[in-house]
Amino acid sequence: MHVLIIFGTVEGHTRKIARNVSATVQSLGHQTTVFDAGDLGDVDLDIADAVIVCAPVHMGQYPMAITHWLTTRADRLSKVPGAFVSVSLAAASPFPEEHAEIQKLTEALFERTGWRPRMVHQAGGALRYPQYDFLKRLLMKHIAYREGGPTDVTKDHEFTNWNALAAFVEGFVADCDRPAEAGANEKSVA
Ligand SMILES: Cc1cc2nc3c(=O)[nH]c(=O)nc-3n(C[C@H](O)[C@H](O)[C@H](O)COP(=O)(O)O)c2cc1C
Repeated sequence: MHVLIIFGTVEGHTRKIARNVSATVQSLGHQTTVFDAGDLGDVDLDIADAVIVCAPVHMGQYPMAITHWLTTRADRLSKVPGAFVSVSLAAASPFPEEHAEIQKLTEALFERTGWRPRMVHQAGGALRYPQYDFLKRLLMKHIAYREGGPTDVTKDHEFTNWNALAAFVEGFVADCDRPAEAGANEKSVA
């Protein structure tokens, strides 16, 4: 099986997640192609037996590059099994209302683009203080302080549960043999 892994990123953490997803898929004996939706050029969808899309939340939104990429290919993508990995700080938050908020954003993305994957994973993102500009660092430090998160701006802080991500990818790959059901494609939210 050839799995296409599409990602969008602003600060690079979702690229790291996409590469990790790719490594897991390959460890299961399958081929992968990893593509940044923000890059020029395109990827041949005909090679894909399945697709995994990874996208981060910034200011309550997924990157325009991902939204656009999905919208313009939703019909074609719907023909193969799909999974979505949403990346956010809210996913790692101890507050359930933040999880609910992210689920709403994820659902809105599917509504807006017309692409509905069969499986969804909410992954914790990262605070990459050293690479933020002054204002962004101040804003993110303020948000982290408010939520009891790390405020040491001299280093990165990762909140991704890599084991949970690998388990999700393994579950999706195993599920790809199952034929798509008529109607809604989404099967589970992890
Ligand atoms: C300016 C900014 C805004 C963000 N807004 C949100 C947000 O609205 N909700 C959230 O849960 N996480 C938010 N995050 C956290 C990002 O989702 C997290 O840092 C993620 O790892 C970014 O992925 P990327 O490095 O691939 O861009 C924000 C981060 C930054 C820097």
